[in-house]
Amino acid sequence: MFTRLREDIRVVFDRDPAARTFFEVLTTYPGLHAILLHRVSHMLWRADFKWLARFSSYCARWLTGIEIHPGATIGRRVFIDHGMGVVIGETAEIGDDCTLYHGVTLGGTSWNKGKRHPTLKSGVIVGAGAKILGPITLGAGAKVGSNAVVVKDVPDGATAIGIPARILDAELDKAREAVAKKLGFSAYAVSSDMNDPMVKAIHGLIDHSAHTDQRLAWVMAELARLGGGKESGKVDDHFDPASLNKMVD
Ligand SMILES: CC(C)(COP(=O)(O)OP(=O)(O)OC[C@H]1O[C@@H](n2cnc3c(N)ncnc32)[C@H](O)[C@@H]1OP(=O)(O)O)[C@@H](O)C(=O)NCCC(=O)NCCS
Repeated sequence: MFTRLREDIRVVFDRDPAARTFFEVLTTYPGLHAILLHRVSHMLWRADFKWLARFSSYCARWLTGIEIHPGATIGRRVFIDHGMGVVIGETAEIGDDCTLYHGVTLGGTSWNKGKRHPTLKSGVIVGAGAKILGPITLGAGAKVGSNAVVVKDVPDGATAIGIPARILDAELDKAREAVAKKLGFSAYAVSSDMNDPMVKAIHGLIDHSAHTDQRLAWVMAELARLGGGKESGKVDDHFDPASLNKMVD
């Protein structure tokens, strides 16, 4: 029991630079209190003392501002920072080494019984105010940006931001921006996986254009190898938009 308590306090020092002393953490961190009290209410829940479990979880909520259903499964070294307004549903599962900030909801999207809350694998970080809804899974080491609303699975190590949350794919966004620049416009701030139909259409066009370029480059290389194409002087790299009119004529 004391090993677990020491472990719980050590993670506060690891993840909160404001933590100063053991005594301070033990006496003034509502996230720590909520986790410790949840252990008691979860034990009661599993031992079928349902009302007592609910009542102890209710007292914990009153003390800490953090509402954890006694049925929720919480792993080791989980840290809830600040904590006020956190809500964790009955069938939620939180893996080891996860961190949640204040205002996080691990909620359900249906009134059906059975698994209806999220599963967080180990090492997940959920930013302040984020809502994670439904029986979805956040992969190991995933991050959720503050105030995001996550309604779909998040792969291992990925970062989800926004409403509805999209996966941050910095590499893909950079690559698209480069292709878009080549085409003569900027896709800046038009990031991957946005839900706007216009944005999706632009991404489709950029990707199609990049693919066509790739295939053309291959055809040109083959032509050059056979003694034709650019090297024969018949193909010009420079494109004059006015030539489109000639094509229509
Ligand atoms: C999501 C998060 C983990 C991303 O961190 P990161 O991987 O270092 O990413 P960056 O800060 O480089 O941001 C990458 C992009 O996402 C955007 N972004 C970051 N956090 C965002 C958020 N919460 N919502 C919307 N967009 C966000 C950035 O503006 C940036 O966009 P750009 O590429 O167009 O400039 C982090 O921003 C976050 O929200 N952490 C939670 C912190 C928190 O809640 N603290 C509470 C302390 S009390």
